[in-house]
Amino acid sequence: MEFETMEGLKRTHMCGTLRRENAGESVVLCGWVARNRKLGGLDFVTLRDRSGIIQLSFNDETDPAVFEKASALKSEYVIAAVGTVALRTEKNINPDMETGEIEVLVSELRVLNSSETPPFYIEEEIDTNDALRLKYRYLDIRRPDMQRNLMMRHKITKVARDYFDENGFLEIETPMLTKSTPEGARDYLVPSRVHPGNFYALPQSPQQYKQLLMLGGYDRYFQVARCFRDEDLRADRQPEFTQLDMELSFIDIDTIIELNEGFLKRVFKEVLNLDIETPFLRLPYCEAMDRFGSDKPDVRFGMEFVNISDEVRDCGFKVFSDAVQNGGSVRCIVAEGLGDKLTRKTLDTLAEYVKTYRAKGMAWIVVEENGLRSQITKFLSEDTVNAVLAKTGAKAGDGILIIADKDEVVFDALGNLRLEVARRFDLIDKDKFSFLWVTEFPLLEYSEEEDRYVAKHHPFTHPVDEDIDKLDTDPASVRAKAYDIILNGSEIGGGSLRIFNAGLQEKMFSALGFTHEEAWERFGYLMQAFKYGTPPHGGLAYGLDRLAMIMAGCDSIRDVIAFPKVQNASELMMHSPDVVDQKQLDDLCIAVTKIEKNNDDVEDTEE
Ligand code: AMO
Repeated sequence: MEFETMEGLKRTHMCGTLRRENAGESVVLCGWVARNRKLGGLDFVTLRDRSGIIQLSFNDETDPAVFEKASALKSEYVIAAVGTVALRTEKNINPDMETGEIEVLVSELRVLNSSETPPFYIEEEIDTNDALRLKYRYLDIRRPDMQRNLMMRHKITKVARDYFDENGFLEIETPMLTKSTPEGARDYLVPSRVHPGNFYALPQSPQQYKQLLMLGGYDRYFQVARCFRDEDLRADRQPEFTQLDMELSFIDIDTIIELNEGFLKRVFKEVLNLDIETPFLRLPYCEAMDRFGSDKPDVRFGMEFVNISDEVRDCGFKVFSDAVQNGGSVRCIVAEGLGDKLTRKTLDTLAEYVKTYRAKGMAWIVVEENGLRSQITKFLSEDTVNAVLAKTGAKAGDGILIIADKDEVVFDALGNLRLEVARRFDLIDKDKFSFLWVTEFPLLEYSEEEDRYVAKHHPFTHPVDEDIDKLDTDPASVRAKAYDIILNGSEIGGGSLRIFNAGLQEKMFSALGFTHEEAWERFGYLMQAFKYGTPPHGGLAYGLDRLAMIMAGCDSIRDVIAFPKVQNASELMMHSPDVVDQKQLDDLCIAVTKIEKNNDDVEDTEE
C-alpha cells in the first residue's frame, strides 16, 4: 500500500477543540480513525487525537473520489483531512460528544499510514487483562482515559513547577549515578567499567544531595526527581517512581506545612477545579494510631476505634482480660446501622480477614431491637456488657467488632478491618478528598529482623529537642520532627526537619547501631560537610505517581505511568530486565553465577 505524506499540509486544529463557533472555517485535522460507518451515500469517520474526537463526513454525490478513499479506512489508520466545519442538523446533534454539534465536510483525504487490527479496542474502560495492555502499551496509552491521566500528570507537574518557582524555589538536578548507602530499601546497582568491581547505586531519593544543596546556599530547592527502590511491588508502588522533592533552609515545620497546603490547594484548583479546605487536620502519630490504628488513616469515613480495655480488664473472659493484663488492649469499632448486614456468614468472613493481620480472632456484638446477638456475651456479666455498650454508644441496629491482642496487632488488624468494612458496605465517598498531616512520628523503630533500631523515616531526621537526651536511654520513645501528608488513606508525601550538626548526626548513627568508624566510613562526607556552616533545614517529597493516581481516580499507580513495571518488576513491552552479551559482562569484569532468563509470560497479580 502506498501512503501519502503531509507535504504542503499544516494541521490547523486538534480534533477535540472545534466547536459550533468554528462553523464555516476551513480546517486541516490529523489523527487516528476511531470508527468508520457507511450510511448509504454518506460515510462518517470518527477521527481521534489526544484532544478528543470529531466526526468527518464524506459524501458520495459531492465528491465520489474522496468518498471511495474514505470507505477503505479501517480502525487506527492514520489520516489527514482537509475540510470545512459545518453545523449538524438538529436531529443529528450528539450530546455525548464535546464536538457533537458539528462535523467536518471533507474535501481532501490523505492516508498517512495503515494499521493492523489492534489486540484490544482503543476506547475507554476496556475489559482486557493488564498483561496484554502492557505488552502493547503504546496502544493502551492511545486510549482516551490513559491519555487523560497522562495529560493530568503533566498538568500537576506544571503547576508544581510554577508554584514552587513563584515561591522562590530553584529547580536543581542531582545525580542518578550515586553511592550505595545502607538503610532504606534495597538499591539498584550499576556496575562501573572504569572501576572494575565498583558499583554506583541509583538514588532512592535525592535526600543527601538536597541537604548538601542547603549547605551550598541554594535555600529553597525543588526537583521532579526520579527515584529507584528495589522493594516488593504493590498497587501504589513502583521500583522506579517520581518525587516532587523540595528542601528549605532557615525554616520551621509550620511554614513547610503552610507552603505545601498552598501547593495542594492550587493543584486541585487548577487541575480538577476543586476548592479544597485548608488548613488540614494535624494528628500526632500516637493519636492517629489510637483512633484509627494507622499512621495513614483514611478519614473519609468515621468508625473510629473505641478502647474498651478498662471495661473488660477484669471481666473474666480470658481472651479479653489476658490481652489487657499482658500489656495489650481490647478495642473495637462500631459499624453503625449495619447490624442487619452483619450475618453470621459475613462475620465469619471478617473474622478470617483479620487473621491475615495476625489477630487470633474477632469478637462481635450485634445490637438488635429486642436484645443482643453475639458469640461472647454469654462469657460476660451484664454489667460488663452494659459498660461496653455505654462506652461505644452502640444502639439498636449497630454492630460492634472487637479485637483483643498486643497493641501492635490490634492496631493493624482493627485498622484494616475498619477499611474492609468501609469498602464492603460502601461507606467511602469516592468523590471526596480528605487530607491530613500525621506528625511527631517515632524517630526509630525496632527491627526484629535486624535486631537493632532502624530509622522510621531516614537517619537524617531531627529528633524533637526535648527528646534528644533519651536517644541513649530510651530510643523507642524519641519523637521525630517528621510529618507525612495523607490523602484518602494513602501516604502521598513525607518530610522532616533535618539534623544539621555533626555531633547529633553521629549520635543518631550510634542509636542505629553504627560504631564511630562505621558511621564515618559510610557517611563521613556528610558529617564532614556539617562542620562547614550548615543552615538549619528541612523539606518534603511527594510521590507524584500516588498523587496523580488519586487525583485521576485510579486504583493502580500504573494507570498514571506511561511505561510501568509489573508485580515482578518486569517491563512487558521491551522485556526488561534481560540478559546481556558476554562481551558487555567482560567489559565490566562481571561473572554471573546464576541466570534465570526473564520470562515474559508472567502471571501478573497486582495486589
Ligand atoms: P519517602 O521515602 O517517604 O521520603 O518518600 C516520599 C514519598 O514518595 C512516595 N513513594 C513511592 N511512590 C511510588 N513507589 C514507591 N516505591 C515509593 N516509595 C515512596 C510516597 C512517599 O510518601 N527523602 C524523603 C523525603 C524527605 O524527607 O524530604 C523520602 O524519600 O508517596
